[in-house]
Amino acid sequence: MKSKSAGFSASARAAARRKLTVVVTGGAGFVGSHLCERLVGDGHHVICVDNFHTGRCANVHGLMASGRFDVIEHDIVEPFGSKLPRFDQIYNLACPASPPHYQADPVRTALTCSQGTYNCLRAAHEHRARLFHASTSEIYGDPEVHPQAETYHGNVNTTGPRSCYDEGKRFAETLATDFGAQNGLVIRIGRIFNTYGPRMQPDDGRVVSNFIVQALLGKDITVYGSGEQTRSFCFVSDLIDGFSRLMANGDAPLGPINLGNPVETTVGELALMISDMVGSRSKIIYKPLPVDDPRRRRPDITQAKALLGWSPKVELATGLRRTIAYFDEQLRLRSLRHAEARLKTQDIFPAGSTLAEAVL
Ligand SMILES: NC(=O)c1ccc[n+]([C@@H]2O[C@H](COP(=O)([O-])OP(=O)(O)OC[C@H]3O[C@@H](n4cnc5c(N)ncnc54)[C@H](O)[C@@H]3O)[C@@H](O)[C@H]2O)c1
Repeated sequence: MKSKSAGFSASARAAARRKLTVVVTGGAGFVGSHLCERLVGDGHHVICVDNFHTGRCANVHGLMASGRFDVIEHDIVEPFGSKLPRFDQIYNLACPASPPHYQADPVRTALTCSQGTYNCLRAAHEHRARLFHASTSEIYGDPEVHPQAETYHGNVNTTGPRSCYDEGKRFAETLATDFGAQNGLVIRIGRIFNTYGPRMQPDDGRVVSNFIVQALLGKDITVYGSGEQTRSFCFVSDLIDGFSRLMANGDAPLGPINLGNPVETTVGELALMISDMVGSRSKIIYKPLPVDDPRRRRPDITQAKALLGWSPKVELATGLRRTIAYFDEQLRLRSLRHAEARLKTQDIFPAGSTLAEAVL
């Protein structure tokens, strides 16, 4: 059996025990908020840097009470100046991740990946800090090799609707690797495959959140394409565990590492699974596949297993149950808020009474 500390140098293990100051860019987003939660839980002081493009205060609000959590509203495309206190590590997650969001302003997305990553690298250099960069399986494009190992160089369109993100993330990997080598910085790059879990936005167009919200609302479940295209879904807690292990892995130069769940599911199977779990009467309908949508995705995680002793633990059914419960609660709260607003505007919500009193 592989030791849990596989690949960790003595100094990295000591750093993991030490209480650190850690910057998380994009910390108010879906993945970032789980990372902040984990780091604060481990006793570190966390500085969340976010421009709130797709992130939400509500995602990290609960961390404020710890006394070890600060938020700086900042766009990483702009230099940090003197905004950051001294820090030991920086995780660069800032970048919209869902196609509707990153395609809304493609130039901004490309700049976030390029100039934004450069600003994070410069800050890391100034503070002699380690940098973790959140890359993506999108750098493999529509892959001709299956499953995708880190040695595969990808099949990416340079000028399509997804290119601002795919090519942006490819450039960020190059920049981070070269900057690290030229300046003696420890750089860790995680190539993240589809990740899901609580705090995804209900309307951000990713397949898991789309299907769950449509099923809970009893609307048609929209499958793009035939549904035979595959994805591999990693639950967010597993991913965060992979981040920590990769960040703590030694000091020697290391190439990008795939982080994802190797269990492959077709999009059609996912739709049926979610519909069954929700007990929904929604119909599954089919629409044309968007341009450049990849047909197959599955990470080869041999390197993550060998170097980090990491592999995902949460099965799809378990992760989906937790995610469905989250969206169910969110939708209930939302409909309570709408009901409250309606009652107030209709002036049938007696002043001073609570919504529960008025509804009951
Ligand atoms: N969730 C996934 O399945 C997945 C897969 C591959 C890669 N990733 C990567 O992981 C990271 C986080 O993804 P996510 O799913 O949490 O997305 P998200 O959209 O929920 O979070 C991104 C966060 O970055 C912030 N942000 C965006 N541009 C910024 C800028 N210029 N300056 C400061 N903050 C900015 C947003 O406000 C948000 O809080 C991204 O870099 C993404 O590319 C995610």
